[in-house]
This record gives sequence, C-alpha cells and structure tokens, in this order.
Amino acid sequence: MMNKNYQNIEDKRDDGSVWINDLGRKRESGPKLLDSRYANFGDGTKSVHAGQYDDPQTGALGTPIFQCSTFFLNSTSYEAIKEGRGRDEMIYSRYGNPSQWSVQEKLSSLENAESSIVFTSGMAAISSTLLAILDKGSHVVSSRDIYGGTYNFLYEDLDRFNMSVTFTSPTDIKEIEAAINENTKVLYFEALTNPLLKIAPIKELVALGKKYNLRVIIDNTFLTPYNVKMLDLGVDLVVNSATKYLNGHSDLIGGTVSGSRKLVDRIWPQLLKNGGSMDPHACFLLERSLKTFALRMKAHNSNALALATYLEKHPKIKRVYYPGLKSHDQHELAKEQLKGKNSGMISFEIEGGDKNAHQLLKNLKLPKEATSLGGVESLISLPHNTSQASLTKEQQKTIGINDGLIRLSVGVEDIEDLILDFNQSIFNIFNN
Ligand SMILES: Cc1ncc(COP(=O)(O)O)c(C=O)c1O
Repeated sequence: MMNKNYQNIEDKRDDGSVWINDLGRKRESGPKLLDSRYANFGDGTKSVHAGQYDDPQTGALGTPIFQCSTFFLNSTSYEAIKEGRGRDEMIYSRYGNPSQWSVQEKLSSLENAESSIVFTSGMAAISSTLLAILDKGSHVVSSRDIYGGTYNFLYEDLDRFNMSVTFTSPTDIKEIEAAINENTKVLYFEALTNPLLKIAPIKELVALGKKYNLRVIIDNTFLTPYNVKMLDLGVDLVVNSATKYLNGHSDLIGGTVSGSRKLVDRIWPQLLKNGGSMDPHACFLLERSLKTFALRMKAHNSNALALATYLEKHPKIKRVYYPGLKSHDQHELAKEQLKGKNSGMISFEIEGGDKNAHQLLKNLKLPKEATSLGGVESLISLPHNTSQASLTKEQQKTIGINDGLIRLSVGVEDIEDLILDFNQSIFNIFNN
C-alpha cells in the first residue's frame, strides 16, 4: 500500500493538491467511522460516548465486533490504494478495521489527539513507534528508570539498526540535556517511573525538544490520560500499555500510540511491516472497558491517596513513595503536572526487609500477588524478584530498590476493606 514507487507519483487531486509529496497538506483527524469525539466534554462523558459506532442498519446500540480479516474492494478503496492513503479505507484488518477505528477514536478523544493506533501490546506500540520515528544512525536519550521490555529494546536492538541510546536520570534535566548529541532524534521517557514513582519533568522535556528539534515521546502507562494529558503539555507522541489502566480488567494485552495525524500516519506503515494490529475482539473489550475508565481512575486515585496516607503513618512502614504525599521528593511538581489527580500506584518499604515484605503479601486477603498493574483488583508484587529481578542486589540498591520494597497497584475495592486488610497483614507479621 505504501509502496515507495507511489511516492514519485505526481497525482494531482481535483483541488490541485498532491497527496504524497505535499507534506504541508491538511490532514484530518481519524481515521473514523463517524464524528463522535465529544471534544468539549469531560473524561467521564468521553469514556462512555466517544468513538462508539451504533449500527445504523439494525439499530444495535454499541460498536459491533467486526470479526473479519478483509473487506469488499470498490472504486473508493482502489483509489485509496493507488494514492497511498490506505489508512482511511477498510481494505484488510492489519491495515484497519471498524473495531480498531472505534476504540482509536475513543482514545483520541481522551488523549486530545488527532489520531491513535491500537496495537496487540504495549511493547508492539513502543517498538513500532520508535522504529517509525528513528532513522539509520539516530540517537535516543532515555531513562535508566524505564520498563524492562523497553530498556531491552533500546539497549539490545537499536544498534542492529545502527542507532544508539543514552540512559539518564528521568528527573535530572541537566543530565538529559548533556546527553543530547547531533544525531539525537528522540527523548523517550516514562511519565511516572516504576517502582519508585519518579516524575519526568514534561514541560522541561518539551522545551528541550523544541530547543534541539527532537521528538518527545512519553510512556504514560502509570498515569493515563485521565491524570495528565501528555499532548496538551506539548509532547509529540504518547504511548500506553493498554493492558494496564486503559483496559483495567487484567484480561487483555494491548498498546496505544496517540498524537498528530501527521506523526501517527508515519507510524502506521511500521505497524503494517511489524504486524501487531489489535484484534477486533480485543478492540471490543478495550472499548467496552474504557466506558468506565474515568470512573475507575477516580476510584484508583482516591483509594491510593487514602492507603498511602494510612501506610505512611504506620510505625512498621519505613517509607512510602506516592506523588500525592508531601514526603514525595517531587510533590510540588506532582501538584503542578497532575493538578491534584495523582496516581493509583504506591510503593513502600516495610521494616524487616524482603522477608517481611513476602510475608505481607502472603497475609493479605484482597490484593492479588501478581505482576502488572491498573486492574480493578489490587495487584501487589516485589520489584526485587519481578520487574528488577535481572539486576544484582548491589545494582538494585544503587537505583533505590531497597530491602523490603513493595509495589502496589491499588484497585477499586472499598477503601475501608483495603485498609483493614493491610492492617491485619502487618499486625500478623510482627505479632506472630
Ligand atoms: C510502563 C510500561 N510500559 C510498557 C509496558 C509494556 O506493555 P505490554 O506488557 O502491554 O506490552 C509495561 C508493562 O508492564 C509497562 O509497565
């Protein structure tokens, strides 16, 4: 579809514009089934209504699952193929499918984006986005505190394409600026890091992006567009593991990228090459889950703040990491960037190290001992033997993974029940 030969075609349209070669051409948002952005509404309304495609033929309410691999070809699709704008027509489900378009529109509405793509996983979104935006020889500045899968992709795979990466502190803007060189094309950071919940200074990253003409790409998985809309802060592209809060039910793997139509149109051909388009049934699940996104996020945030406050006061808890607490190193930045919304994630250290941390998990009745995050159920794990397991104890200490550190994704259970459960669990460690 995006065969390079087409790029040389001087195919003038009726209004005189040239499709492929005219980089200044106006791009429309989408692709979309119908205009349903709910642009001036709040996130609760957008979550419910945006992108939904009610079937006009049958009157069925809600987006159907378009479980098909291919579509009838007609003169419009042939013309789109010829002009290299296959993204706007239904041709083949790896290229696009109504179920994808529907959930993409809901996401675009929530992200305030012109365009979005949904992928089979967060890693598919991240790797396709980076490969699409980088050229041979490009350099990336990224963070030492980054999801392991992304770290591995940047560290192990970029140099196969003659590209390179420098890892910096996500909070030290001077170190980040010093790492930029003449080949740097992208600043790639996570908005809130795992597991110590450090906050990337987005406005300063965007300013660096402008100063050096770089693309700023942010993984907003831990915060989501409910807590902060990255594109409104000037970020070029925002990626999410939809596996986490966006889906919220721990029952699918997915990923997203959102941004301007112009940039997302650059990622789409990479999706065609890498594969990784989200399956229509997964799109249905994600779109359905997103209807309660704002509701869920409100509950995650308020439960997390209450539990973090409780844990901080507990005499057996040594330290709590939570951006909403005054004790957080970047609490002032959190207030400015998150506007009081915070996050559903907490990390904390218990007296007695990893031994007691493991016992705490065993004693709990409600949170599930599992990796991942963002589910309606609380999920709890220890970074030392999950996300940071590949590091030695010494390396873990250097980056602040202390003995007894626990990571908690606070669910939407009743907060009184969660606090009682933590209370009994901690009590039983120290009184048995
Ligand atoms: C911050 C972050 N980004 C990306 C990913 C990768 O997402 P997925 O597992 O959906 O590929 C994860 C997974 O845990 C993550 O925590």
